[in-house]
Amino acid sequence: MSDTTTLEQKLQVLQNRKKTNFTSTISDERGSELEYNGHKISDLVAWWSVAKVIGHLWLKRDLPEYACTFIETIMILLADHGPAVSGATNTIVTARAGKDVVSSLIAWLATIGPRFGGAVTGAGIWLVDAVNRWISPGELVKEMKQKWVYIQWIWHKVKSIYDPDIRCKLMQDLAKTFPTTKHLEFALWVEELTTQKKPNLILNVDGHIAALLCDMLSDLWYTPEEIARMVKADLFNSFFVLSRSIWFIGHYLDQQRLNEWLYRTPWWDILYDVE
Ligand code: ACO
Repeated sequence: MSDTTTLEQKLQVLQNRKKTNFTSTISDERGSELEYNGHKISDLVAWWSVAKVIGHLWLKRDLPEYACTFIETIMILLADHGPAVSGATNTIVTARAGKDVVSSLIAWLATIGPRFGGAVTGAGIWLVDAVNRWISPGELVKEMKQKWVYIQWIWHKVKSIYDPDIRCKLMQDLAKTFPTTKHLEFALWVEELTTQKKPNLILNVDGHIAALLCDMLSDLWYTPEEIARMVKADLFNSFFVLSRSIWFIGHYLDQQRLNEWLYRTPWWDILYDVE
């Protein structure tokens, strides 16, 4: 529009413009070359990693090297955890019922919740809140006890201070590459208190991921309010879902390869507690 266009003419153009139903800020496929967050696909292929793409599409940030390594580490550490847990079992049972990969994946997604995977989001919500309020680890433990709420980043079924989880150690080593780690430090102080009660009340994998994601987001110049909003929007669980999908696709394909037949729980594994 030229400089000589009158205000009235500009208003007319705006009024004539069709109202859009959607807004999208992460990619554009209309030009000669697809763009992710303003970057041409040819540049991505030449210079980027999957973590960088996640940074642009999920966070709209160009992730520094330490953050890319962290995201790739999350994906590797969470990419499998055996066939026994609820999500894997659901996938295997669904695959053996003759269903396709999408149905088998939907079956595992339905198991995500506070007892399985959902703890990453739960841990993030409580951690951000505690660190933003500048309360001490002791105050946090007391508060949670008064509220009758489990501390969301604490506990492991078999691992303990006597038999540490190697995945946690790997993430603590990685934390040394982070510019700041105030959320991780806070979560570890809480662990010092809870393990005095029981040795398995450790800062677990979900907790490490949540704390370091909080630290990464602070270092990417998000405000505490923005971080709290992203955590509530299930950003942290999204990393869990993405990584674990690698695992469950693996189990789905494994069942196909083995040509396993329909699963039926044997009677000896069910207590028929009926009159
Ligand atoms: N925060 C504070 N205290 C705890 C916690 C916790 N997260 N977990 C257990 N305790 C306490 C219990 O209150 C109980 O105390 P009491 O003896 O005075 O009553 C004692 O430790 C016994 O604990 P357990 O029997 O080992 O665990 P419980 O079955 O009570 O709770 C649960 C297990 C539900 C998983 C709980 O720890 C929790 O919700 N944790 C947070 C979410 C989580 O970590 N989920 C598992 C993810 S799997 C993973 O990340 C590897």
